[in-house]
Amino acid sequence: MNLTLDFNNVMSDVIGHEHGLRPEDIDVVKGRGAEIHKNLQERRKADIGFYSLPYDNKLLREVLSLSKELAGSFDNLIVLGIGGSSLGGRAIFNALCHPYHNLLSRTGSVGVYPRLKRNASSIFFCDNIDPDSFEPLLKMLDLRKTLFNVITKSGETAETVAQFLAVKKLLEKEVGKKYKNHIVITTDPIKGPLRKLAGEEGFKTLSIPPNVGGRYSVFSAVGLFPSTMAGVDIKKLLAGARDMDKVCSIDNIWKNPAYMSAIIQYLAYQRGKNISVIMPYSNALRDFSEWYIQLWAESLGKSVNLKGKAVNIGPTPVKAIGTTDQHSQLQLYMEGPYDKIITFIEVKKFKNEVSIPKMFEDFKEIGYLGGRSMEELFRAELVATRIALTKNKRMNYTITIPDINPFTIGQLLFFFEVQTAFAGGLFNVNPFNQPGVEEGKKLTYGMMGKKGYEKKGAEVKEGLRRNKRYVIQG
Ligand code: PA5
Repeated sequence: MNLTLDFNNVMSDVIGHEHGLRPEDIDVVKGRGAEIHKNLQERRKADIGFYSLPYDNKLLREVLSLSKELAGSFDNLIVLGIGGSSLGGRAIFNALCHPYHNLLSRTGSVGVYPRLKRNASSIFFCDNIDPDSFEPLLKMLDLRKTLFNVITKSGETAETVAQFLAVKKLLEKEVGKKYKNHIVITTDPIKGPLRKLAGEEGFKTLSIPPNVGGRYSVFSAVGLFPSTMAGVDIKKLLAGARDMDKVCSIDNIWKNPAYMSAIIQYLAYQRGKNISVIMPYSNALRDFSEWYIQLWAESLGKSVNLKGKAVNIGPTPVKAIGTTDQHSQLQLYMEGPYDKIITFIEVKKFKNEVSIPKMFEDFKEIGYLGGRSMEELFRAELVATRIALTKNKRMNYTITIPDINPFTIGQLLFFFEVQTAFAGGLFNVNPFNQPGVEEGKKLTYGMMGKKGYEKKGAEVKEGLRRNKRYVIQG
C-alpha cells in the first residue's frame, strides 16, 4: 500500500523554463536538506515529539482501555477543543467513518464502515463558540447518554474553557453528581489549570506529551481517543504512520516524498507561487484539508526567521475539493496570476460503486455517460483538470493513495507532518511555535478581564477606536 508523489508537472521539461523547475534547481537544496534532515532526526527523540507518537504503546493502551470502559455507556461523544485540539480528530473521523455516521443506527447490519462494525458513538466536534451551533447541539442530544472530551493542551484556551464551564453546569443539572463520569479531559500531563482541576474533581484524563504541539498532535490522545470512540481501527492508523516514518526518514531527497514535496513547495514560493492549493478528489478528505491548512499556515507563517531577522514569510494554503471547486476556483487557477502551486490528492479506489445507467441515448449531450461509472467520471475530471493546468503552465503535482483506510490515512497524515517540519527548515523558521496566535489569545484575555492581562485590555480599547468617516451604514 504505497503513497506516490508524481511531480512531473512542476518540472521545466513539462511546463517550460519560465515556471518550471529543473533537476539542478532541486539539487541546489540538497546540502541544506541534509542539514535539516540531520537536525530533525537528532531532535525527534527530544523536543520534536510527533515522530514518537506512532510508537507509543503506553499511549495506545491508555486510549484503548478508556474507550473500552466508556464505549458501551454513551451514545454520543462531543469533542470540545479548537485548532490543533480538534482538527486532527475531525480529519480522521471524516476520512474513515461513514459520511453520515451520526445518522446510522448503532445496531445496523455489518458494513465496511466503523460504526456498523463496532457499535460506535455518534461524534460531534464543537470547534467554535458560536452560540447558534453550540446551544442547539446540547439541546438536541440526551446529555445522560453523552460523553464530553475536553481537549486543550494549555488548559486555558478561552473557547474550550468556556464550553467546558457551560457543559459542566448543564451536566450537573441533568445528571447531578455523576457529571464527572461524563467528562474526559485531554491536556498536558503536568501543567495547566485543567490538569489541576481534573485531579481535584476526579475527571478521567488523557495526556498530550509536552513536546507535541497542538497541530502535530493527531497521533496523540487528541486524535486517537475520538477516533477509537467512533470505531476507527487506531492500531492500523498508527501502523500507517510508522510505515510512512520509514519512508520519510530517508536522507536522499530524491527518494523521500515528504522532503521532495517540501522542496517543491519551497522552490515554488521562491518563484512567486506563494499560494499553495491542496485539492483532494475525495469528499472524505475535506476535513483532512482543513487539518493540513492549519498545519501549514501556523507552522510556516512567521514574522522572523531562526536568526530573529524580520522576514514575514509563509505560503498561503488554500483548500479546494475536486470536482466541486472546478466549478468555483479553477477559473482563477487556470487564468489568474501565476502565484499558485496545486497539490492534487488522488484516491485510486473508492469503497462504493455507482454505475451510470444507459438512458436517453438519443441525446448526445447526456447519453454518452450511460454505461460508465461515477468513479470513472471522477477520475476523468481529475485527469482533465491536471492536463488543462499543465497546458497553461501552472505548477501542479499529485499525491496518490491506493484507497482510503486507516493505514493510508495514517500514512498521509504523517507524510504532511514531516513535510511541514522539513519545510520549516527550508523557510528557515520555527515550524513548532505560533506567536501570532498567542497574541490574539492574550488580547482576548485582556478583553474578557483575565487577571494579569490588564495591559492587553487597554490595548484592545485603543484598537477599538474608529474614525466614523471610514464606516458606512447601509
Ligand atoms: O496548533 C496549535 O498549537 C494551536 O492550534 C492550538 O492547538 C490551539 O490554539 C488550541 O490550543 P490548546 O490545545 O492549548 O487549547
